Amino acid sequence: MSTLSTSLPGGTWNLGDLTVTRFGYGAMQLAGPGVMGPPADPDGALAVLREAVDLGITHIDTSDAYGPRVTNRLIREALHPYPESLRIATKVGANRDEQGGWPPARRPEDLRRSVHENLESLGVEVLDLVNLRLGNAEGPQPGSLAEPFEALVELRQQGLIRHLGVSNATADQVAQARAIAPIVCVQNMYNLAYRQDDELIDTLAEAGIAYVPFFPLGGFSPLQSSALSSVAARLGTTPMSVALAWLLQRSANILLIPGTSSAAHLRENVAGAGLQLRDEDLAELEFDAREPD
Ligand SMILES: NC(=O)c1ccc[n+]([C@@H]2O[C@H](COP(=O)([O-])OP(=O)(O)OC[C@H]3O[C@@H](n4cnc5c(N)ncnc54)[C@H](OP(=O)(O)O)[C@@H]3O)[C@@H](O)[C@H]2O)c1
Repeated sequence: MSTLSTSLPGGTWNLGDLTVTRFGYGAMQLAGPGVMGPPADPDGALAVLREAVDLGITHIDTSDAYGPRVTNRLIREALHPYPESLRIATKVGANRDEQGGWPPARRPEDLRRSVHENLESLGVEVLDLVNLRLGNAEGPQPGSLAEPFEALVELRQQGLIRHLGVSNATADQVAQARAIAPIVCVQNMYNLAYRQDDELIDTLAEAGIAYVPFFPLGGFSPLQSSALSSVAARLGTTPMSVALAWLLQRSANILLIPGTSSAAHLRENVAGAGLQLRDEDLAELEFDAREPD
């Protein structure tokens, strides 16, 4: 049962025994260009994080690979000691190289080191939620996750992690993880224009597992869809608001983590996600999403 009341759009969701607002915040955009180095405006970045908490958001998504080690430190500087209701989700399984690439780091020893680094950079004794990031920059790739996932299960058994999830994963990998140990979420790329995981979302909803779309607004290239623009124009709002509201209405297990480096955009996104889309809006968006290019 939910122990948190919120006026944020979408209400709350339980990640295992941790209640979070369905409207969360993704911290990746706070690092420098290409998700490398510090932000151009460090005070502005700290202000965005404090604004998120002031708005009542209790779910922040991060990774020590952002920067690397930039967003975790910003979160700690802005918010530590953390409000009791705040839950921070992190990811392990990728490093950064000097060109800004994301080479995999999924050997058990890499994962152990990364979990300890996250504990240190966030300033906590236990990580609320750790996602094992699979695949590569092109997306999910087939293959067994048993060895890295079992390494994380062991760290969880040692009391360093409360809950586990997987990211950038195929449906088979999600099933494999669930056969090894409980997961509370899957974090994959999904938005109105990129709907590869429709079936997976419904399967997870039946199992009470959250689906956390990354790039809900299109990521580095803003979502383009004629239906989004026309529905937004009809409702007198922005395409981004419609994109977020659509995700919240798509399925109750979807948690939002839109990224922004701007407190004004964050407020705009919170207000926009509360939009109630009518059947005719949903039908138009659905038709557009299923149209071939
Ligand atoms: N698991 C993974 O492999 C993975 C991969 C990528 C991301 N993620 C997570 O997912 C989160 C979300 O992804 P994302 O941040 O890359 O992409 P996103 O949420 O789809 O889009 C962020 C972009 O939208 C812009 N934006 C946001 N609100 C806006 C508004 N109201 N008006 C105009 N522009 C707006 C932001 O620019 P401004 O800064 O100017 O607002 C930013 O460029 C990340 O923060 C990260 O935590 C996970």
